[in-house]
Amino acid sequence: MTGTERGTQPILTGDRVRLRPWRPDDAAVVLAACQDTDIQRWTQVPLPYAAEHAEGFVGGIAPQTWDEGGALFAVEPADGGPLIGSMGLFPPRDGVGEAGYWTAPEGRGQGFTAEGLRVLADWALDVVGVHRVELLVDPANAGSRRVAERAGFVAEGTIRQRFLFRGQPSDVVLYARLAGDPRPPTAR
Ligand SMILES: CC(C)(COP(=O)(O)OP(=O)(O)OC[C@H]1O[C@@H](n2cnc3c(N)ncnc32)[C@H](O)[C@@H]1OP(=O)(O)O)[C@@H](O)C(=O)NCCC(=O)NCCS
Repeated sequence: MTGTERGTQPILTGDRVRLRPWRPDDAAVVLAACQDTDIQRWTQVPLPYAAEHAEGFVGGIAPQTWDEGGALFAVEPADGGPLIGSMGLFPPRDGVGEAGYWTAPEGRGQGFTAEGLRVLADWALDVVGVHRVELLVDPANAGSRRVAERAGFVAEGTIRQRFLFRGQPSDVVLYARLAGDPRPPTAR
């Protein structure tokens, strides 16, 4: 389904976080967050990360992802604080969508990412209509693995040297949530 057929990208609301479409004026926050060493270590953001990357992300990649059947969201505390992270579903294929996320250092450690991922996966399974949401996580990324488990994802195994990460063949743990899996608890 294309963006035109899907209408406007929604706002997704959990108990403590809100996922909303990116806006052009978010670029400065994205630029600052993506200087973080953990985001640079564990995600595929361009290196070095420059203003043009942030502007292209919020103004180009995000609307294009919606047009292609996925959705990239800015994550904010539901009580109205400043945006703290990024949560996305890449365009699904064969009823399977892959999610990805990062949270800025000042937003970490409060359960926002785990709740945001649960909200995103619920929406992907219930509204977008995929039957499976996947996550590919570096085995050493303990924080992301815990976030995945908190959001109801099941570790299905390690895929060895399947992906090139910054030019290096890399292992990933494959996590997934299926439409029929038990729903994770909503509160932390
Ligand atoms: C990994 C990351 C998303 C965690 O975000 P966060 O907002 O701190 O996560 P939450 O607060 O929702 O924490 C959820 C759980 O993970 C645990 N956790 C978070 N970071 C952790 C870490 N570095 N090591 C171990 N556990 C961690 C929390 O303690 C919490 O566990 P609990 O529910 O049992 O108390 C964040 O550190 C980040 O953006 N890292 C860089 C980018 C990245 O790794 N993206 C994912 C790529 S697959």
